[in-house]
Amino acid sequence: MEGITCSVKSCEKPLDQSYWDLQYQSETTGWDLGTISPPIKAYVDQLKDTTISVLIPGCGNTYEAEYLLEKGFTNITVIDIAPTLVEKLKEKFKNTTAIHIIQGDFFEHKGSYDLILEQTFFCALPPQMRQKYVWKMHQLLSKNGKKAGLLFNRSFEVSPPFGGSKTEYEQLFSEAFHFKILETSYNSVTPRAQSELFFVFKKKAEVIVQCFALSGITCSNCTKTVLQKIGEITGVINTQINSTFSNLIVMSTNEISLEQLKEVLAYEPEYSIALVD
Ligand SMILES: C[S@@+](CC[C@H](N)C(=O)[O-])C[C@H]1O[C@@H](n2cnc3c(N)ncnc32)[C@H](O)[C@@H]1O
Repeated sequence: MEGITCSVKSCEKPLDQSYWDLQYQSETTGWDLGTISPPIKAYVDQLKDTTISVLIPGCGNTYEAEYLLEKGFTNITVIDIAPTLVEKLKEKFKNTTAIHIIQGDFFEHKGSYDLILEQTFFCALPPQMRQKYVWKMHQLLSKNGKKAGLLFNRSFEVSPPFGGSKTEYEQLFSEAFHFKILETSYNSVTPRAQSELFFVFKKKAEVIVQCFALSGITCSNCTKTVLQKIGEITGVINTQINSTFSNLIVMSTNEISLEQLKEVLAYEPEYSIALVD
């Protein structure tokens, strides 16, 4: 990651279920556009197959699902961690079976989707979750699955939202996804003009992405050594450790066993590693 300016600030707030639920209880939802964002609307408008399975994580008031429903899509799943919001959604969409509404943590969700839409979910997550987000998105997409939506191309003084840049996204996603589009969105809402990237990424089905929980690593110099050693394992294409040294993702052409990784890390008895599933 050398040469990359970090555009995310650290965050002391626990961005957990209570935090998000409180935002809905107190109606402090400044991110809510009140309608589907124009770039996602334009993307949905050119989709022909309305039977594809679509997931909207961190869905909020999910104007995207409402629009998909209007367009005749029949297999839409929305997930959000905030119970107050989800109760409202269940009431709002009670007369349709086309929208499956789940209250829960995206990172615990299991499934297989043809399309995952991203609208201010990535930027709401603590930056240390970004590697895990890449792994989870790859896991949840079907063989030819795509993820599409918007990512901020700017930094923020107060977070969430957490910003990012095109270079960071290239580093983060490019080994696990084919980039179909990653460019400044031409049709963002005015307050977000020129500060969002519209993207369409297709899953690299041939790449295996695994996530591991790490402990005992305390500095970035240590991560360099760890990444270098893991990078030398046959089949490994890319390795990333998050900013709190608690997650490792390994992208490879063949599955890397936990035992192999334990062996590599055995030089430092303080280090431990477990598979995240
Ligand atoms: C900034 S809001 C965006 C909501 C919606 N996508 C929109 O643009 O209006 C982030 C949303 O992600 C949800 N969220 C945060 N962490 C989550 C998690 N781990 N799993 C599922 N939802 C989560 C929050 O409850 C919140 O609704």
